[in-house]
Amino acid sequence: MPGFERFGKEEIKHVQDVLETGILMRYNFEAARNGIWKTQEFEQAIQRTTGAKYAHLVSSGTTALITAIKSLGIEPGDEIILPTFTFVASFEAVLFTGAVPVLVDIDDTLTLSPKAVEKAITSKTKAIMPVHMCGAMADLDPLLEIAHQHNLFLIEDACQAIGGSYKGKYLGTLGDVGCFSFDFVKTVTCGEGGAILTNEKSYYEYCHQFSDHGHDHIGHDRGAEDHPIIGLNFRISELHAAVGLAQWEKLDEILSRQRTIKTYFKAKLAEIPFVSFRRIPDEAGDNASFLSIFLENEEQTRKVWEGLKKEGIPCAYWYDNNWHYIRKWHHFKNLKNQKGISEEQKNQLPNYAEQNFSASDEFMKRTLSFPLSLNLTEEKINQITALISSLV
Ligand SMILES: Cc1ncc(COP(=O)(O)O)c(C=O)c1O
Repeated sequence: MPGFERFGKEEIKHVQDVLETGILMRYNFEAARNGIWKTQEFEQAIQRTTGAKYAHLVSSGTTALITAIKSLGIEPGDEIILPTFTFVASFEAVLFTGAVPVLVDIDDTLTLSPKAVEKAITSKTKAIMPVHMCGAMADLDPLLEIAHQHNLFLIEDACQAIGGSYKGKYLGTLGDVGCFSFDFVKTVTCGEGGAILTNEKSYYEYCHQFSDHGHDHIGHDRGAEDHPIIGLNFRISELHAAVGLAQWEKLDEILSRQRTIKTYFKAKLAEIPFVSFRRIPDEAGDNASFLSIFLENEEQTRKVWEGLKKEGIPCAYWYDNNWHYIRKWHHFKNLKNQKGISEEQKNQLPNYAEQNFSASDEFMKRTLSFPLSLNLTEEKINQITALISSLV
């Protein structure tokens, strides 16, 4: 997810605009800022592109998720269903709102299995949180249907899928709220940053207030503003927003390059009989930041992965990864023994260590994902596919 590969004079210009005003804060200082409002411009650009009625920028994807969950009125003890394959931030965000993360299996989409979601619904369930992993979408039609039937919120963790879409609608805009991350390795980056997207005014109002100490942002005197709610400081700075704005203007070019690379790479890999592909519910909407393949079994997958590693070819084997798959989240499985979580919340948590995620294991142990650099050439792809063929 290489937005950083496209840094250029545009990022420098937007940052310079901010530095020349001396105002790094997104709110207030109207006279001194000389008409420079990079955060607002970036929010408006996200709204224009995605069609979301509201986009609110914050300091990270993690704080976007926390803010989004809280904006829905989810309370301590409420349950949120999410997948076993994600980045740790997804369950961290749920935990730090006081809610209970209920993890369920993925399927061949490498995202939430709708069947597993249905089985996990209890009287305490308040939301389903699909995570659009590695640039491509969850199986949204059945998930939206389940959410609708059971009167649950749908929170899209679209942190890894900026610019992706599902049946013509941008990921992040199909649920009640959606979140992006602009951290250092995302499709569009500003170093650290995130966004919440929604079409619901009351959620947006909560988001901008909560992420700025509860300020109501009415009037032009920050010191005189009211505080309708308790909040925190999850603000983004104008410097970060300046970089993000320049990057957002390059989104179409980044996606187009990724999609061209992926189409070629996928066609080459399709010639290898022991390779198959992750199911993508709407191929046209894949943001194409990764190409994920299945091999036939764990032994073969490990052999190919080791061979690729030896040649220095970037490739993720999530099954062994400490951050993206539950198998190695020892801290999460051991939550009941960790400090910083109330006894009340501990008592509500399932015993994750004893849960059976063999259905997820069956996919993860056979999955390899190639991150697609914008600089990947056809020649390099030919070398990689030849190498994979020779390894088995
Ligand atoms: C799926 C997912 N959710 C949430 C996050 C958190 O984003 P951030 O690093 O901006 O806090 C990430 C970051 O990698 C992610 O991949």
